[in-house]
Formats: sequence, structure tokens, C-alpha cells
Amino acid sequence: KLVLDTLDSHSTIKDTRELTIPGESNPATSHDSQITILGALNSLLSREMITYETHEVFSYALTPEGSQIAKEGSHEARVWSALPLKGQGTPVTPVQLKKQVGDETAKVGQGRAFKNGWIGKEGDGLVKLVDTIKDTAKLELLEIESTGDLKAGEKVLADLRKRKLVNQRKGQWFTVHKGSNFSTSTAKPETDLTADMLTSGVWKTSTFKKYNFDAEGIPTSGGALHPLLKVREEIRTIFLEMGFAEMPTASFVESAFWCFDSLFVPQQHPARELQDTFYISDPPASLSPEKSYYDRVATVHEKGGYGSTGHRAPWSDEESKKLLLRTHTTASSAQMLYKLAARCRGEDIDDDSSEFTHGARPTTAHGEGDTKSDNFRPAKLFSIDRVFRNETMDATHLAEFHQVEGVVADRGLTLADLIDETRPDNYTLEGFMRVFFKKMGLEQVRFKPAYNPYTEPSLEIFAFHPDLQKWVEIGNSGMFRPEMLEPMGFPKDVRVHGWGIGLERPTMIRYGITNIRNLLGHKVSIEGVENSAAVMF
Ligand code: PHE
Repeated sequence: KLVLDTLDSHSTIKDTRELTIPGESNPATSHDSQITILGALNSLLSREMITYETHEVFSYALTPEGSQIAKEGSHEARVWSALPLKGQGTPVTPVQLKKQVGDETAKVGQGRAFKNGWIGKEGDGLVKLVDTIKDTAKLELLEIESTGDLKAGEKVLADLRKRKLVNQRKGQWFTVHKGSNFSTSTAKPETDLTADMLTSGVWKTSTFKKYNFDAEGIPTSGGALHPLLKVREEIRTIFLEMGFAEMPTASFVESAFWCFDSLFVPQQHPARELQDTFYISDPPASLSPEKSYYDRVATVHEKGGYGSTGHRAPWSDEESKKLLLRTHTTASSAQMLYKLAARCRGEDIDDDSSEFTHGARPTTAHGEGDTKSDNFRPAKLFSIDRVFRNETMDATHLAEFHQVEGVVADRGLTLADLIDETRPDNYTLEGFMRVFFKKMGLEQVRFKPAYNPYTEPSLEIFAFHPDLQKWVEIGNSGMFRPEMLEPMGFPKDVRVHGWGIGLERPTMIRYGITNIRNLLGHKVSIEGVENSAAVMF
């Protein structure tokens, strides 16, 4: 109303600092008043009632120390007034002065008072040399306090800022003109055209609020990907880039046959025990796997075969049929490998529908060409999914987590294909894992011999963590045993590499999460999920 009335009588407002806001005694020179005015200007601008230009000014305000000086005088003035005039009293020693005016004032003030010629030495003490002084600092600060500026100019202001007595503030003021819809009425324009307005004809004389096409929309409350899903997507992309096909892994419940037996894990292996594995009581047992394969697996466990002596322990049907929450995604890999070997078993395969050989190359890793009569086709498979272990939960362990797993099946693969191969001319060909981890941003990777019931040799994978400055174990790998592959029907020269890493650890590193419970479970913050940035390996 103030802006509109002033414009009505003066046609422009040259400087909004000259307005006096109703209820205030002084013109609106302060920063806050101009902010208030700006709010009104923007609202009037949106209705095209006015236009305005913005001008920038710097204003100055006192710091707490500045205010104190404005009130009590500068340090040098305080020192001066604490002393007797020369020849008219006992000189004050520096120690006494400190007691009187305080350490800080004595320290800073003495130097300046000397420099100004206000004080001098007499014996061991100090005295006034002049009987009046002009406390310029105080006067300057008082001027700044009341006007926000200093006539003495930039240089003095710069000095006061350096002494941390004043702060510079950026301020704005405005010049205002009438707009195309100028009127002195502050009635709010209509925001909606209603049926009533149409029937009564009021719409003809109403003013309407303009659409603001620049307004930022209300943030949508759609879904957001959990950090684990984002990292999973990144890893999936790496696998796809490397020609891997994704395995179906939807079956959280598996039989002990697929989780352990098919992998040649002994039926008495500790990993199968209740404290490590969650068993399912209902239904009580799994369906039977295909009979002849099942028999070959049972035989290789009990009696051996394919050049192996087997575990030489009694085979239990019941053990094999137990249902459990899969403890690793290798349970799914085993089933996929069994399917992949179907061609080699002489079963009818509809190649078009076979999802897992699409990464196949026409020639094998060693360039032999796919000419053998066993029909084998190489494959590169991966999965990223959930697994379950009956573990004690703490800051870094949960009873359910995710595994990333890669499997490569080809003729004549060697450990060199898994890690690296150094050729006779010293040229090093990078192995699958080296390439894969490099794409994940892990340049420094090391492998350490380890034991794993279904792979031989087996390797633990370590990566150098640049933030922690140490090597951390990230996974496990190896070449699947012939006792696992040959009962499936793979020819003897087919080798299968496998490796598994956790999904949680790289995700926690990416997002700086130190407690796994903040990543998974009921303590996860929804805002945290919504705000977590996408990651790039
Ligand atoms: N299944 C293994 C694990 O749970 C990972 C692995 C996969 C190891 C394939 C070797 C081959 O840690």
C-alpha cells in the first residue's frame, strides 16, 4: 500500500530507502527494511502493478568489539584517560596500567597512544602528554553505527575491517515505477476462473493472477532407489559391458542339493549346520532333482569318480532334500551351469530361448573354434541378489545381505584367465577379475590362496582401500572342481571360473556408511535414501 500510494502521488520512487514504513519512525535505511520492501515489490511485480530496478550498496555494521569501542572509547583513549597529566601526579607503571584497564586494552592501546603522541614515559611510568584528545576511532564507529557508512571513506573503512571492528554487508535498494496494471487497489487478483464468475459476468472486470512459468515445481514424492540398488545397477552395467548375461536368482529358498550337494560340499560340512544356515520346516522337503544327475552327484560324494576319491561318507537323501534360505548365490549358478551343460548331455535345447549363452563367443578363450562334437558353448553369467546366513548381527554383519557373483565357462580356462597372464614377451593380459575390479574403481587387487569346498584352486580377493590405507578382503573366487562339473555333463576340457563379492561393503564405502544397520533394515532413513546421490564406479 505504501509503495502504491507513493507511486500514485510521485509516479516513481527513486530510492526505496527514503520510504518510511508505517509504524516505524525512521526512513527504511536498514537492511531488514529493504528486505521487507523487496517482498512487497515482488508481489506487486507478479501482478504487473509495478516494475523496479535493483541497486547494490555496501553498508557497514559494528562487530561486538566495535560496539564496545563505540560505547567506551578506543583502547588508546582508555589508556590515555587512565594516566595523570605529565607533572601532575604519580606516573602509572605498565603493571598498574594492565590492572586498571585490562591486559588487552593496555597492550593494544599503549602502542597507539604513543604513536598519536598522547602519552609518554616519565621515569618507570607513563603519563599523559596532552590534556585533550580526539578519539577518532570511537567517533568513526559511532558514525558507522548510525548511518551504516563512513564519510572518511574506503581506506579508513578497510582499516577498521582489518581490525575486526566493522563488518561489510551487501545491501540493496530499489527504484520503482508504475507497471502496466498499476492501481492503488491492493485487492488480491483472482487465481481461479469459476463457474460462478462466468454466470455472473464478474470475470469481465476481474484481474487475474498471471501464471508463473518460472516457478519451481513442488518436489515429486515418487520412489527413490535405495543405495544398494544404485550400486547394484552400476555393477550390473559393468557385467553387461563385459558380455555377461544375468542369471535368474529369484529363488531365495533352495534345496540343500543345489546349495551344497551339487557343489560337492560334503554333507557333513560345518557350513550346513543350524547355526550357519536357516532351514525351512514347511514344506519339509524339496522336490527331487532329475534322477540320473542326482545319482551321479550322490555317487561322486559317496564313492568318488572322474578321477576323485569322493568324500567316502554315507550319502543322505534326507539331508539333500532339506529346504533352506540360500547361503550363497552359487546355488543359482550351479543350476544355471547344469542347464548350460544340457547341450553336452545331448538334451534337446531351444537355443533361441536359452537366456544364458547370449554372451557366448563363436570361438573359445583359446581360439579353438566351437567345432567339437560335445556341443559345448562358452558362457559368461552373473547375478546380484540376496543371501541369508544365521550370523550374529553387529555393525558390519546382517543375517541377510547381497552377493555379486560371476561365472565364466569355457574350454581350457586357466588361473591366468581369472587373474592375469604374462606372455613370454612380458606383455601382461589382464584376467577377468582384474578388468572387472578396475571398472569398479579398484585398481589395486591382490589374490591369496584359500580353501573353498567347491573350488580348487581357490583365491581370496583383497582390494586396497585408499581411505583406510589398507588391504581389505572383498571376496572369494576359484575354479570349480571337476567333481561338480563333470556330473553335470561338461566335457573334461571345460573349466568354470567363479567369484563372489559382497554388495554391502562397496556400497558402504561409496556412501561413507559405517554401520550396516543404517543401510539395511528398519533404521534406514527414508530421507537418506531419497537424497543419496547416484554413484559411478
Ligand atoms: N560362494 C562363495 C561365497 O559365498 C563365492 C564364490 C563363488 C567362490 C564362486 C568361488 C566361486 O563366498
